[in-house]
Amino acid sequence: MDLEQLKKEAKNSISLIKNALDLEQWRIKYLGRKSVLSLFFNSLTKLPLIEKKKQGQKANEIRQILSSLYDGAKKNIENDFSSSLDFIDITQPGKKIHYGHLHPLTLTLSDITNSFQKMGFSIIEGPEIETEYYNFDALNIPAGHPAREMFDTLWLRSNNKDKFLLRTHTSPMQVHFMETNQPPFRIIVPGKCFRYEATDASHEIQFHQIEGLMVGENISLSNFKAIIEEVVKDIFKQKVLIRFRPSYFPFVAPGVEVDIKIKSKAKNQKPALRKIEGSKIEDEWLEIMGAGMVHPDLFKRVGYETNRWQGFAFGLGVERIAMIKYHIDDIRLFFSSDIRFLEQF
Ligand code: PHE
Repeated sequence: MDLEQLKKEAKNSISLIKNALDLEQWRIKYLGRKSVLSLFFNSLTKLPLIEKKKQGQKANEIRQILSSLYDGAKKNIENDFSSSLDFIDITQPGKKIHYGHLHPLTLTLSDITNSFQKMGFSIIEGPEIETEYYNFDALNIPAGHPAREMFDTLWLRSNNKDKFLLRTHTSPMQVHFMETNQPPFRIIVPGKCFRYEATDASHEIQFHQIEGLMVGENISLSNFKAIIEEVVKDIFKQKVLIRFRPSYFPFVAPGVEVDIKIKSKAKNQKPALRKIEGSKIEDEWLEIMGAGMVHPDLFKRVGYETNRWQGFAFGLGVERIAMIKYHIDDIRLFFSSDIRFLEQF
């Protein structure tokens, strides 16, 4: 076959092309799988090696020349808007717009903080890096106290004065806030916390808490219960049972743990998201926070009059709430960056 002739012919014909449709015809004819050139390549297999190499090289050169001719012509046509109009197929369905999604933790955090804001709580934020003093000592957890074992800690490099760590809970903000503010007040502190733990379906090395602190005159645990009942109802938009269990945290007295139970919906009423097989989220008591009345030691430490002020504090697990609300049975999904997971929200 005369390759030179083929090249000349292709060159001549492409110079006359003015629209994308004709160009596509040209591409099929000269570069397509059934083009003369492709057939030529196929026929090379039958030739002796030396001849094959020589002819193959030549054909390759030609193919390269033709491809760059094609690329050039394509660019020209794309730049020329009127010619591309030939190609608009108005019967084609439109392109689907891809929406982003808010992360389930973002949704849950804003649900909870909105709910507290409606009841007059201000939102305060604090540092993720803390000192040993604020994370532990100021909360009645001195070195050697058994309660330190509840908080597997990620320690950071320290200077001579302070020992630094990644906060294991949001409670240090209780002390920071009281050092610089006078009662009465009510605040919540959402934020990330860290614990040096092996991860599994219910433990993560990082997670979120919302600390709450309300200090005033004549504040009692029943004020706390009333507020929490309201918030939980607001978040879950369905009937939720609440119970307090006695518990111990050195910075509150008395201390409690708060459990909730979601009543399962009627069989034919599907939850918002697919219920994960075997997850025991409905009809079970689930712990969502620790809480209690602020220990007088803390008030003394920040210079409040202990006979005048009382307060309650709580620390709410945000992932816990999100898992219950959206029927998620593995906490590790939150930080997995798995798009299939995120797109469900
Ligand atoms: N900080 C505690 C925890 O992380 C929870 C808590 C907060 C308990 C406030 C009582 C009062 O387990």
